[in-house]
Order: sequence, then structure tokens, then C-alpha cells
Amino acid sequence: MTELLRVEHLRKSYATALPWGRKPPPALNDVSVVVERGKTLGLVGESGSGKSTLGRCILGLTRPDSGAVIFDGVEVQALSGRALAAFRRRVQPVFQDPFGSLDPRWPVGRSVRESLDCFGIGTPADRERRVLDLFDRVGLNPALAGRLPTHLSGGQRQRVGIAAALASEPELIIADEPVSALDMSVQAQILNLLMDLQQDLGVASIFITHDLGVVEHVSDNIAVMYRGSIVEMGETEAVMNHPQHDYTRTLLAAIPRPR
Ligand SMILES: Nc1ncnc2c1ncn2[C@@H]1O[C@H](COP(=O)(O)OP(=O)(O)OP(=O)(O)O)[C@@H](O)[C@H]1O
Ligand SMILES: [Mg+2]
Repeated sequence: MTELLRVEHLRKSYATALPWGRKPPPALNDVSVVVERGKTLGLVGESGSGKSTLGRCILGLTRPDSGAVIFDGVEVQALSGRALAAFRRRVQPVFQDPFGSLDPRWPVGRSVRESLDCFGIGTPADRERRVLDLFDRVGLNPALAGRLPTHLSGGQRQRVGIAAALASEPELIIADEPVSALDMSVQAQILNLLMDLQQDLGVASIFITHDLGVVEHVSDNIAVMYRGSIVEMGETEAVMNHPQHDYTRTLLAAIPRPR
């Protein structure tokens, strides 16, 4: 079986009140996607289309109103105790701003080691070495492990965020706008790193971005979201070259191309 994740008919509305008692449209409106083992699904759509909500529902951080998230054949909402802990090990987030997941008072190496400690990976003596291996894996000089997050560049900080995500040897990474805060040249380096990791470690990912030009390079498949729904989904090549939906065509037209 090559299927790793299946999302079925997910619906989510936030209980925010709009003026005059109006209800906001649902953040997710019957969303279904599949991610195969070792493959990357690019999830693209404009701001507010529901991408992060979908990512958070898959991670178990937001509870959907209805529908199911099925990881490796098991429904995630039904997990508790050890099974839930095992799921958390197998599915890891990478966020736009790793500041949120790194303790500002700790040297970044300690934050990565904390992930190993938290999942009880290796012996305490092993873990020091594994932190350095992870730094090496994401292309960071191990000497940087002793620095505070504020004393790293944005790109270095995102590499630390990726190292922390890799600590538990996950099978699926949910990367929510992981390069959006970075300069163009640094974006390209981080995208290359993510592609190398997919090749070398066989880790699957959902790559969330508002930029179709970014997902084109990293994704095997693309899902286009618009106002809480997936309006188009298919292999990257097909979506880029033969878009079926008007909204996808609008996104394509917005990609800056060298002339
Ligand atoms: N915690 C929340 N409470 C209330 N409404 C929310 C919450 N989180 C998201 N929303 C609303 O749900 C909709 C989808 O938001 P979501 O963050 O999933 O979009 P997104 O596609 O990730 O956007 P962006 O590209 O700006 O990150 C938006 O209308 C947003 O305002
Ligand atoms: Mg978002």
C-alpha cells in the first residue's frame, strides 16, 4: 500500500461572529486529499482559503466539525494515549516562523535535543551526537548549536526548525509556508534542502504556500484551494500545463517568469 494519509470530507467552521449576526463561510468545505508515502503534495491557494486550517486538522491541532483524517489506515480523531503519542512522532510540522517553536532562551541545539528527549529517542548520551548529526543533515555548521535563535539568520533558523521536525524520524512533514519569510536566494536553498530530504529519507510532505511558482518545484501533486474547497487536484505537470479551473489559471498568470 502506498497511501500514507487520507483526508475525507473535512468540514470546519470557526465560531466567530461577524457583524449583524452573519456567519462566516466555512474554513473547510468538504475537503478530501490523499498523500502517498514519500511524495509531496503542494497545497496552494490565496490567503484565507483554508490551507493552514487543513494542515492543523491533519496535525490534530484543530478539531474538524466532520469528516475524517486517516493516517496509515487509522483514524486520527480516535487516537489517544500511546497511539496518539506515536502519531505525533510520525507527523511533524514545520512553520513559517520557527521562532514560535524555538525557545528564545535556549541555544538552538538544546531545542533540537528537547525533541529527541520528548520522544525518548536514543540514550541520553546518543542524543548529543544525534543533534549534531541532524545539524549536519540540514546543512548547518554544528558550531551554531550553541547559539540563541536571535543570533541566527532567517534561513539558518528555518534549518533548525527542519532539524527539530526531523528529530523523531517522521513519515510526514506538514510545512506551512516554510519559505515565505525568507529572501529569494535563501528560499531556493531551503526548497532544495526539503527536496533532498524527500529523496534521501523518503519522508512525505504537504507543502503549503500561496505561491504556485514555489510548489511547482517541490511537489509531485498539487491541490488548489479556493474559499475552503479544493477546486483542482492532480499531478504537478498536469496542473501546471493544463489547468482546468479558472482560479488555477489566475494563480499561474501571477507567477513571475523570466522573459
Ligand atoms: N482560530 C481562528 N478563529 C476564527 N477564524 C479563523 C481561525 N483560523 C482561521 N480562521 C479563518 O478561517 C479561514 C481560513 O483561514 P486559514 O488560516 O486556514 O487560511 P490560509 O489559507 O492558511 O491563509 P494564509 O495564506 O493567510 O495563511 C479564514 O477566513 C480565517 O479568517
Ligand atoms: Mg495559513
